[in-house]
Amino acid sequence: MVARVIAIDGPAASGKSSAASHLALRLGIPYVSTGAMYRAVAWMASRRGVGTGNPVSEATLSPVLNALKMEYSRRPDGSFALCVDGAFPDSELRGGEISALASQVSALPCVREFLSGLQRAMAGSNWIVMEGRDIGTVVFPDAAVKIFLTASPLERARRRLAQEGGGDLETVAREIAERDRRDVTREISPLIAAPDAVMVDSTGLSVEETDAKIYDIVSRHSMDYRVSYGDTDQMGVVYYANYLEIFERGRTEMLRSAGITYRELEAMGAFLPVAEVNCHYRGSAVYDDLLNVRTRITGARGARLIISGEILRGDTVLVTSEITLCCTDARHKARRLPAELLAACRIYIHEVEA
Ligand code: DC
Repeated sequence: MVARVIAIDGPAASGKSSAASHLALRLGIPYVSTGAMYRAVAWMASRRGVGTGNPVSEATLSPVLNALKMEYSRRPDGSFALCVDGAFPDSELRGGEISALASQVSALPCVREFLSGLQRAMAGSNWIVMEGRDIGTVVFPDAAVKIFLTASPLERARRRLAQEGGGDLETVAREIAERDRRDVTREISPLIAAPDAVMVDSTGLSVEETDAKIYDIVSRHSMDYRVSYGDTDQMGVVYYANYLEIFERGRTEMLRSAGITYRELEAMGAFLPVAEVNCHYRGSAVYDDLLNVRTRITGARGARLIISGEILRGDTVLVTSEITLCCTDARHKARRLPAELLAACRIYIHEVEA
């Protein structure tokens, strides 16, 4: 079962927080910064003298964790934020001392286990964007979407200086590279990309360009398909009609990746027969070609679901399509699209009212 989680991992100052919060805003779903959770543990620990008088250890952190109440909840203004023991800390979590202490407490297994447990409990039937270091690898290895956001140490140093001021570019870049080396080689939850994560390098990209790139990855379902001999004619060329079959697979996989299957829809009494298809054929594929099938939902209103797609070989678009599905009940009468389907497919619904 996939977790309806969009995991955005990456090193410090790679732009994860702004990318994750902008994406969540655009998709209308909550955003969780796990870094803020590690900082909150450090904040509460520092109040008990950890890091100043008391050492950073499992023994000093365990009572902090036992007494800690932490959740994402709505602020009085309606926005979602981290609530720690009834308060919404903000600037308190961002000071230099808390950053240094957060880095230390995050190396303790008891802290990682405690926070990973809380983070897992946040996933459910609604989508969330969760940003951190180990979301796609340790916390949600079954996340539906995994993105690993990076930027060169020099670029990250530039951003950090623009944000916080002070310091010399080369020195900050060297410190960042050194911290990367420590994070990547540490024993517990090292900073590595999940093998199935999409890598995004934001070096040289503006915030808007990075946002657009990430939105495009998330809102479009993408799957690879190797042309089998059975999909081809005697010359080994794909029948045009078989492109449609390949689209159908892409659409079914899109539903599956959103955590809903055709079987489940049928069990809800909802059927999705094809009402109309428009395909524009531009080129042929042959046996053994590796095709990339991309789909996204460009219409979801009443009983109608419109899925737009394209099939590519490398960068060449072979066919584009628009498939209209009309939701019916078991007696073939049109009915509204089930709310569960719309909720599950929410991230693939591209710029339309649902
Ligand atoms: O992303 P950030 O700078 O707010 O993170 C604060 C600290 O927490 C940082 O030292 C890295 C650590 N952290 C972690 O170890 N695992 C996470 N999933 C998130 C943050």
